[in-house]
Amino acid sequence: MSIIFDKKTGIITMNTKNTSYQVLINEHNFLLHLYYGQKIHNTNMTYLYMMFDRACAGNPNEVYPSRTVSFNVLPQEYTGYGVGDFRVNSIALQNADGSYGVDFRYVKHEIKKGKYALPGLPASYDNGDEADTLIITIEDALTKMTVDLYYGVFEEKDMITRCAKIINNGQTPVTLHKASSMCIDFPYGKWDLINFHGKHALERQIERRHVSHAIETVGSTRGTSSHQQNPFIILTSQDATEDFGDCYGFMFVYSGGFKAEVERDQFDSTRVVMGIQDEAFTWDLKPECVFYTPEVIMTYTGNGLSSLSHNYHDFVRNNICRGKYKVARRPVLLNNWEATYFNFTDKKLVEIAKDAAGLGVELFVLDDGWFGVRDSDNSGLGDWYVNTDKIKCGLPELIRQINDLGLKFGIWIEPEMVNEDSDLYRAHPDWALRMPNRIPTRSRNQLVLDMSREDVIAYLYERMSELLRDNHIEYVKWDMNRSLSDLWSATLPAGRQGEVAHRYVLGLYKLMDQLTREFPDVLFEGCSGGGARYDAGILYYSPQIWCSDDTDPIHRLNIQYGSSFGYPISTVGAHVSASPNHQTGRSTPLNTRAVVAMNGTFGYELDPTELTEEEKEQIRYQIKKFKEYYHITQDGKYYRLSSIKDESYEAWQFVSKDKTEALLDLVITSTQPNPTLINLKLKGLEEEAIYEIDSKTLPDWGKTFEIVDIDMREDYIVKKEVFSGSALMHGGYTYPWVIGDYPAIQIHLKKIK
Ligand code: DGJ
Repeated sequence: MSIIFDKKTGIITMNTKNTSYQVLINEHNFLLHLYYGQKIHNTNMTYLYMMFDRACAGNPNEVYPSRTVSFNVLPQEYTGYGVGDFRVNSIALQNADGSYGVDFRYVKHEIKKGKYALPGLPASYDNGDEADTLIITIEDALTKMTVDLYYGVFEEKDMITRCAKIINNGQTPVTLHKASSMCIDFPYGKWDLINFHGKHALERQIERRHVSHAIETVGSTRGTSSHQQNPFIILTSQDATEDFGDCYGFMFVYSGGFKAEVERDQFDSTRVVMGIQDEAFTWDLKPECVFYTPEVIMTYTGNGLSSLSHNYHDFVRNNICRGKYKVARRPVLLNNWEATYFNFTDKKLVEIAKDAAGLGVELFVLDDGWFGVRDSDNSGLGDWYVNTDKIKCGLPELIRQINDLGLKFGIWIEPEMVNEDSDLYRAHPDWALRMPNRIPTRSRNQLVLDMSREDVIAYLYERMSELLRDNHIEYVKWDMNRSLSDLWSATLPAGRQGEVAHRYVLGLYKLMDQLTREFPDVLFEGCSGGGARYDAGILYYSPQIWCSDDTDPIHRLNIQYGSSFGYPISTVGAHVSASPNHQTGRSTPLNTRAVVAMNGTFGYELDPTELTEEEKEQIRYQIKKFKEYYHITQDGKYYRLSSIKDESYEAWQFVSKDKTEALLDLVITSTQPNPTLINLKLKGLEEEAIYEIDSKTLPDWGKTFEIVDIDMREDYIVKKEVFSGSALMHGGYTYPWVIGDYPAIQIHLKKIK
């Protein structure tokens, strides 16, 4: 059992393979956090704490008249509110008498085999004998407000999950104003905070800074996890690198607004609190009612950021993603969005599909514009019936023709939205989120359906399930193209409007749950104007997410780089698009576009009827290579070999699970005359094994870039060079002098002994 309770000392220790987490139930039933970090063996970590009479500190009644104990100094597992801990709190609430106060003490705990589940919310799961659960109950003696603190301990995975069940066991209603999922104190150490900020077409940009004497907040008030901040943060020791140093990750399994707070206090203790966004949040908790907070997935490693990413990659792939395509190879797709935008007919779609089939594409995806009256993004959302002006033959017939070409058929939907210019809106104007007497704010000229309403969810379930039942649809791209505003629901009284944002997310999860359960063989891909809802909550329902609307491979490198810290490559929707690129106008070689898209789920988003024969040939080769390397890129270990500070190139590497194969990718982002040669130290290989460089790698040498010394190029191609793993990892691999615009080189290595 990974969870041990020592009755004598009141200490509960959670152990994973390499980490320990310890809490103390002290003699006054305070629940204190003692330690989280590298595994410790049979040690009571209370020695880390010393008590003094601290000036301006509040002292709990139990210790009166002693002044040496204060909640403002003690590390707390989950704080109360209004009773003397002046740092960021875990919870905020107002009691029926108007007081803002809750003061928790330990009541009991329970240790169970297996992983807890969260009603109505996505959460990590146990594949059988992987996890244990600890539930610690804390309670306010006066009001009987109770919190069950849940911990899921995945021993072999070095993962500990946390969430809270807040229960009103009192006689009077309570209004929650903040309901965080976890709180943790690090009493010592100087830390860096890493977060992933962004905007549309530039999501998940890494930012790192020293944690200062302030409260740093990373969050979203947009009702979605957002382009602007990802619900994932990392705390590292200030000396941490890819391969060295203390790193703690906090990943939120939630798709709505969130808030992560990091505070370095007066004594240099650092607190991290994570939960749903509390701005404009209230929740009416009547007696006997329960509120579940979403889950936070935590990991610790002393071996740097690569190791932290490996923990998350494995966990998200195996303990968050579900369904057939968690394991099954995802089909190589071609999406018509950048090929046609709204301007297509059934004939044009079949022409595209026909050429796509000839390239080896396996799935044709019909994007926005196939329904209602939808010739632009100003109308039609909500009318999920085929547009017979464009698709004259009807959807079943179009799908039949595409299936006859040997392709699966996939479709785009945006169920949460409605245009005012739609039949749905004309029939149900009250289904859109809007405040009384206020004209709602439009974004992309669309409004948001009130997903907190049961009738809206029931309608959407009916319509979407009918669409999937009546048509042979094997893939769904679930888009969501705006942030939430005008939060007000006609179904809730004035005093409960603060619940709408969270109820929206619960409604969304309910709908996703119903549809993914009923259609387990359909591959769902999440999307939100690109990657605005790139979070572990969505990944629970769809194993891949369209990572960004930015398809310029060079610009996108930074997005995929940032995404890789928390999310595995198997979740990163990435396509080869046309050149010049539609977002930036930049021209890049076709091979470079493919190398970058292979750092994801891989597919195409261009009009194949406009390709030259040579380009078609290259694409056939790319698809063949992608399939050959699938087990390395989607299931192997991923290493970042450069940082975005390396301005002239970006490099990364995959190693297959059994270390017998590796794929090394380099993209030159700024070609230099008379350059310093690029030498990359590979990672994760077997020291003594001998690896051979496969001559058949991307690109097709010499076609898309030139290596300056022609003789060298000949050597480079013809010789199947061999190296030991140790030579590649410690001496590194040196590239020849390559010129041209944005060349990319992909090298496949195979263990030969
Ligand atoms: C935003 C998505 O990210 C795009 O890929 C495309 O599906 C458009 N929406 C369609 O409106």
